[in-house]
Amino acid sequence: MSKQFRIAVLPGDGIGPEITEQALRVLEKVSGGVSGGVSGGASESCFSVTTQSALVGGAGYDAAGDPLPEATLKVCEAANAILFGSVGGPQYDKLPRPMRPEQGLLRLRKHFDLFANFRPAIVYPELAHSSSLKPEIVAGLDILILRELTSDIYFGQPRGIHVNVAGDREGFDTMRYTEPEIRRIAHSAFQAAHKRQRKVCSVDKANVLETTQLWRDVVTQVHAENADYADIELSHMYVDNAAMQLVRNPRQFDVIVTGNMFGDILSDEASMLTGSIGMLPSASINAKGFGLYEPIHGSAPDIAGKGVANPLATILSLAMLFRYSLNEETVAKRIERAVAAVLAAGLRTADIAEAGKKTIGTVAMGDAVVAAL
Ligand code: IPM
Ligand code: MG
Repeated sequence: MSKQFRIAVLPGDGIGPEITEQALRVLEKVSGGVSGGVSGGASESCFSVTTQSALVGGAGYDAAGDPLPEATLKVCEAANAILFGSVGGPQYDKLPRPMRPEQGLLRLRKHFDLFANFRPAIVYPELAHSSSLKPEIVAGLDILILRELTSDIYFGQPRGIHVNVAGDREGFDTMRYTEPEIRRIAHSAFQAAHKRQRKVCSVDKANVLETTQLWRDVVTQVHAENADYADIELSHMYVDNAAMQLVRNPRQFDVIVTGNMFGDILSDEASMLTGSIGMLPSASINAKGFGLYEPIHGSAPDIAGKGVANPLATILSLAMLFRYSLNEETVAKRIERAVAAVLAAGLRTADIAEAGKKTIGTVAMGDAVVAAL
């Protein structure tokens, strides 16, 4: 029986369109063009994929005066999953905040309630040398940062910049989490750990912040009250220590679960352990399994249009899309194996190349992955 999948493709700004294009070539190959079948192991599955592109971020603002145009939202609502490039650029930095490219992404996360953001950081053996840390510290690293994505200081009200009673300009944001918000991400963390090394480290700043005291209490409670999680080792760490431990001894971690802002920061830090931010995919998923898949890197305006950006994080995000939203594990693995194969064959974009070694561009990297599928 053939399943029909629809994927909304939102390339966005900067290098977004170039890298998304390569992921789409991979998609075309694994789905045999418009429709196709994939077989693997004992299970065989047939599916067809249709894609629809839409504007987001600065591209949405330029075309429709809105970083998340109504038409784009409609395309996403009609889809099984969203493949996202990247948003932002210096030309948009002076716009009023609601018009800025990043708002397109933040509104999508909120609109679809994509609360669970999976950011795996894996060190491919061949890339251990591109890390800014010594290879013996990062070799074999495989951690998962699970970042809460729809609450915290990113969305808390009130916020603003006003003139206070002393007559000084004052900026303020509100960090807040409700118990149900913490509970659901805690469950996601324990469930993810079950499929891994069964260790969860919850990161907070409970020594100073009330919000994260509640975070620690609730995560502890969810762990204690579920017999299913009894075999999972739960630890807690303050975020400053976690930032330090990530560069001191990153392999001590398995799953790190944390709030929106700490997760934003720690996942960029973790990306450097792997050699390049150009390698890290992510999945942002809601309770129904609908998700948005994007590289964790930004739009890299400095290299946009030059054909040198690394498309692998986006291609690996497509693999996650097949795994989590389409339940096509075989296809996900096939894409991941192809990426591992091109790295093993020595192909490198500039961001992951050893000094003085030959590099290839975005399209050539796409070619290599397609050929390795
Ligand atoms: C990320 C990005 C976004 C965030 C920006 C683009 C709004 O840094 O996905 O990590 O802060 O969440
Ligand atoms: Mg970030």
